[in-house]
Amino acid sequence: MPERDRFEALLSETLRQAAPVAVMGGPQPEYPFTYGLPDPASFPSRALLRVARTVLLEQGREALQYGNYQGDPALRSLVADRLRWLDGVEVGPEQILITNGSSQAIALVAQALVNRGDTILVEAPTFLGAVRTFELFGPRVVEIPLDDHGMRIDVLERTLTDLRRGGIQPKLLYTLPTFQNPAGVTLTLDRRRALVQLAERFNVPVLEDDPYGELRFEGRALPSLLKLDRSGLVIRCGSFSKILGAGLRLGWLAAPESLLRRLVQLKVDGGTNPFASHFAVAFARRGLLERHVRLLRRVYRARRDAMLESLEAHCSEHATWTRPQGGFFIWVQLKPEIDPARAREEALARGVAYLPGPACYSSGRGANQLRLAFSYLPEDQIRAGIARLGEALAAARRAPVAAGAPR
Ligand SMILES: Cc1ncc(COP(=O)(O)O)c(C=O)c1O
Repeated sequence: MPERDRFEALLSETLRQAAPVAVMGGPQPEYPFTYGLPDPASFPSRALLRVARTVLLEQGREALQYGNYQGDPALRSLVADRLRWLDGVEVGPEQILITNGSSQAIALVAQALVNRGDTILVEAPTFLGAVRTFELFGPRVVEIPLDDHGMRIDVLERTLTDLRRGGIQPKLLYTLPTFQNPAGVTLTLDRRRALVQLAERFNVPVLEDDPYGELRFEGRALPSLLKLDRSGLVIRCGSFSKILGAGLRLGWLAAPESLLRRLVQLKVDGGTNPFASHFAVAFARRGLLERHVRLLRRVYRARRDAMLESLEAHCSEHATWTRPQGGFFIWVQLKPEIDPARAREEALARGVAYLPGPACYSSGRGANQLRLAFSYLPEDQIRAGIARLGEALAAARRAPVAAGAPR
């Protein structure tokens, strides 16, 4: 169509960098393990309804008005208080920016720091949404591998050293230290300490993305990178999406005040969701958020257990996988005898959908890996779906190479 062609020729450099978006919709698979969707049955709709009524009656004049660009002051205080209670971090409300989910926090940091051609470091694999956001700014993305204990700090050190020798100053290290998306692994305390020391030594800003940290099912909470940092180079972002409601679109970012003032300059939007902010504050200040998070830990723990048990029962011949202590995801490594393309077809034919590994690498690696989200379906459906996945993987085994056959 002529009109569309005219716009194509006029598109900005930024938009030309953007990867096409998979169009949502179409028939829903019977067993959707693809996306990290929160459990809809756990949304605290009734409690929120009561709180919304009070907010509208008592604070409607402010809640329905335009908001402050930095975010609702009461919500910024709440986020600062929770950082102190949960992690012992001392930051004031002036160091908090409220964002449209943590997705926007990631985009603002990229916009603030990354120019075309700059080098940034990410874990491999990493959160696909962040990869897509970073790609808009045209950086060179260097991947640092993970193991069961989180990012390989030895590789990080070697990479930073090599880059420095080549005269390259990375602009950002993006990391998910707790219940990593997609791998489910958690960075150990020693590695956390080493990471912040390396960031200081090489003067690299760190974006610590942690939307899942409160959903810990077992083990002791570890200090955040922000808590361990002495250099002022760590920016931390979080979200209400997984602990309250993704549709509220409330996230936050904590940063040194000087950077925070600069980030606010990028945020010309009438303030992020003033109504949802009032809502979240009223809910949390009544003690309902902490109670709700306790409930979510039980819900998601049961789902993780159901998925791990079913994987053990149906998939152990075909794959290995991580055992997360919290969060939403299990990362699966297919054995070499499984054909990954065939596995995907066989799984979809049985109504089972998962996220193929290459979506989680900016280099497109990971063909024989995949991510399963255990957050969305109840246990009985998880069990049924993983049993079908086991059948699909069995059907995707490559024919054995006959002994003596030419290779
Ligand atoms: C690691 C990670 N970061 C950020 C986000 C963005 O979440 P939201 O924008 O809803 O806060 C997600 C969502 O799945 C995520 O998994």
